[in-house]
Amino acid sequence: MALTKKIQNLILPLPVTLATHRAKKGDDSTDNIIALSWVGIVEHHPHMVNIVIGKGKYSARTIAERKEFGLCIAPVELMEQVDKCGYMHGSKVDKFKMAGFTKIAAEKIDVSLIAQCPIRLECIVKEIIPMKTHDMFIAEVVASHVAPIFLNEREEPDLSKMNILCYANDQYWSMGEKLQDLYYSKKD
Ligand SMILES: Cc1cc2nc3c(=O)[nH]c(=O)nc-3n(C[C@H](O)[C@H](O)[C@H](O)COP(=O)(O)O)c2cc1C
Repeated sequence: MALTKKIQNLILPLPVTLATHRAKKGDDSTDNIIALSWVGIVEHHPHMVNIVIGKGKYSARTIAERKEFGLCIAPVELMEQVDKCGYMHGSKVDKFKMAGFTKIAAEKIDVSLIAQCPIRLECIVKEIIPMKTHDMFIAEVVASHVAPIFLNEREEPDLSKMNILCYANDQYWSMGEKLQDLYYSKKD
């Protein structure tokens, strides 16, 4: 079997997130949502994440200006709303209304989070790294929320209770089942 020589994104799968942001301070009528899968973790203490947004997009401009965003992890049940947030434009459409999402005010930043998402992070932008066609936003997570019904007895997210949506090869996938705990193979 020949290996593919085409250079393409083969880091599969990626999570599907909904980044929320607000154009005008204190004005929730200017809230918007962008679907994002190019996201990652870049530091542990403090907890830092990165998102990558195409240059010139409405969301890229707002987040660069306001320097804060919510990052809501989407479940499979929201696939259709996610898809629409991934081609509609905040400059033209109120995506909260379009998707029928309930807003929850973030605690530490001036954005709305999405109640229907089981995991919600509040992020403050620390650095913007311009790439060729995209900008990378590196942000500190200043608060994180998991809806209580999705926690296990140790107060950790219980992934068996939420069906997280994944993105790979321009397709949506679900996560599948748990196999083992991290480092289960260590002997001591
Ligand atoms: C599943 C999914 C993942 C996406 N990931 C990204 C991404 O990581 N970066 C990006 O710039 N656009 C991504 N998009 C496209 C944006 O969501 C899309 O351009 C959106 O319409 C921009 O919204 P805005 O005009 O309100 O800023 C993704 C779309 C979907 C459906």
